[in-house]
Amino acid sequence: MPSAHRSEVLSATGSAPGKVILCGEHSVVYGQPAIAVPVSDLRAQAQITADAPGRGLLLVAVDLGETVTLRAAPAGHPLATIARLTLAEIGAAAPDAMLTLHSDLPIAAGLGSGAAVSVAIARALAAFLGCELTVDTVSALAYKVEKIHHGTPSGIDNTVVAWERPVYFVKGSPPEVFSIATPFHLVIADSGLPSSTHAIVARVRRRRDVDPSRFAAPFKRMGELARQARIAIEGGDLPLLGALLNENHALLAKLDVSSPGLDRLVAAARAAGAWGAKLTGAGVGGNIIALVPCDAATRVEHALRAAGAVHVWHTTIEEQSQGRLNANDR
Ligand code: PMV
Repeated sequence: MPSAHRSEVLSATGSAPGKVILCGEHSVVYGQPAIAVPVSDLRAQAQITADAPGRGLLLVAVDLGETVTLRAAPAGHPLATIARLTLAEIGAAAPDAMLTLHSDLPIAAGLGSGAAVSVAIARALAAFLGCELTVDTVSALAYKVEKIHHGTPSGIDNTVVAWERPVYFVKGSPPEVFSIATPFHLVIADSGLPSSTHAIVARVRRRRDVDPSRFAAPFKRMGELARQARIAIEGGDLPLLGALLNENHALLAKLDVSSPGLDRLVAAARAAGAWGAKLTGAGVGGNIIALVPCDAATRVEHALRAAGAVHVWHTTIEEQSQGRLNANDR
């Protein structure tokens, strides 16, 4: 339950990072482990300020050019849903306030935009109402929104985004953190093609229901890759980690969740010197990640742009940003 020293303030903010999945998307939905890391440079940020009495709560999504009042928003509206869930969790009525949302994250691109937006809104609204929600509570609220929009999510997105730490994740279990022996550099490239998590996860489920044997071995192997990737990260063996990412991409392609556009980016990154590259998130469109030696980062970026990437970002995953999943925070 939220700690309740409730007193409204005049303004408050909340923020959350994007994320990438290193290993184990799709198989994680079926109970296999996966590894995800936050992308702290790309964020969703919510700011809430008091408004005139009687106005109710106004939600303004700047990047979407969308403004909606909580009163009028239809059931299932993603921004309104997280606001309503947060108010119900706190046991508060909607305040007279304006909540403004900015996000650096591309939508429907596998970078956790939906979860980041939910977490940022929940945090800003709770802070505005003088309430502190635990990380687990914020993650659980965001998971409820993911369920409405993604059908059968594993929970990995809301978990890594709420904790903002690299996690080894198994559906239904508390997330585990692990040590990072050597910081590693990822280049993230956006294909510009849409990636509908809901549609792609549903398609995989339908096909698996029809032919379970086609999926059993690849999913099991993807789980094994996630376990080995954790060991490679803990041991600082980045070339091995790259090889594991490559194999993960090949398995995802075999399950038809890659596409020519994603394969082209993956091939370009590898040819330019990446240790490994793969699609990240639900696939078909969205982003790829490339694990690169630092001296190859610029070359890989240029190769990705030449191969059609519409955006390229860099991020370094390191021990310092990892911290601990503190039992007191849960
Ligand atoms: O939201 P996305 O596109 O990053 O996909 C999440 C990863 C999946 O494994 C495909 C789905 C899930 O719920 O874990």
